[in-house]
Amino acid sequence: MALGAELAARARPGVVLLLQGELGAGKTTLARGFLRALGYEGEVRSPTFNLLWLYETEPPVCHADLYRLDRPEQVEDLGLHEYFETHAVLVEWPERNFDAFPEDAIRVRIEVLSDGQRRVSIAGGKTS
Ligand SMILES: Nc1ncnc2c1ncn2[C@@H]1O[C@H](COP(=O)(O)OP(=O)(O)OP(=O)(O)O)[C@@H](O)[C@H]1O
Ligand SMILES: [Mg+2]
Repeated sequence: MALGAELAARARPGVVLLLQGELGAGKTTLARGFLRALGYEGEVRSPTFNLLWLYETEPPVCHADLYRLDRPEQVEDLGLHEYFETHAVLVEWPERNFDAFPEDAIRVRIEVLSDGQRRVSIAGGKTS
C-alpha cells in the first residue's frame, strides 16, 4: 500500500507500471495503495474477471489484469493500448501474452521471501 502510494506521487498520463509477481504477491494491493493515494475511496477490485477497471482519478487510472488472456488479440480487443497515453496504467500479469507495452514502461517485480516479506525491484521508465 505504501509503495503504491509512493509510486502514485509520480503518476501522470503515460506512466505504465507492469506489476509482476506470483499469485498473491501483492500486485492488486499495490494498485490499491496507488489509487487510495490519488484519493479514490471506493473499493479497488481485482480485475481478474473483468480484466480492466477504469478510475476517474487525477490522473485517470486504468488497472488491468491479463492473467486470463491466452491470445494477444484478446488484449487488443480489450483496448488496453487506448489508455497508454491518457491514463496512468497498472497491469498485473503483463508477461501473459502481450508484449506491446510502451518502451518506457516501468517494471515493478514483487518477490515473496520465505518469511513472507516482499522484496520489490523497479526498473525501466524514461531515461531522459
Ligand atoms: N506486502 C505484503 N505483505 C504481506 N501480505 C501482503 C502484501 N501484499 C499483499 N498481501 C496479501 O496477500 C494477499 C494477496 O494479495 P493481492 O491480491 O494483492 O495479490 P496479487 O499479486 O494481486 O495476486 P493475483 O496474482 O492473484 O492477482 C492479500 O491477502 C494481501 O493482503
Ligand atoms: Mg491481483
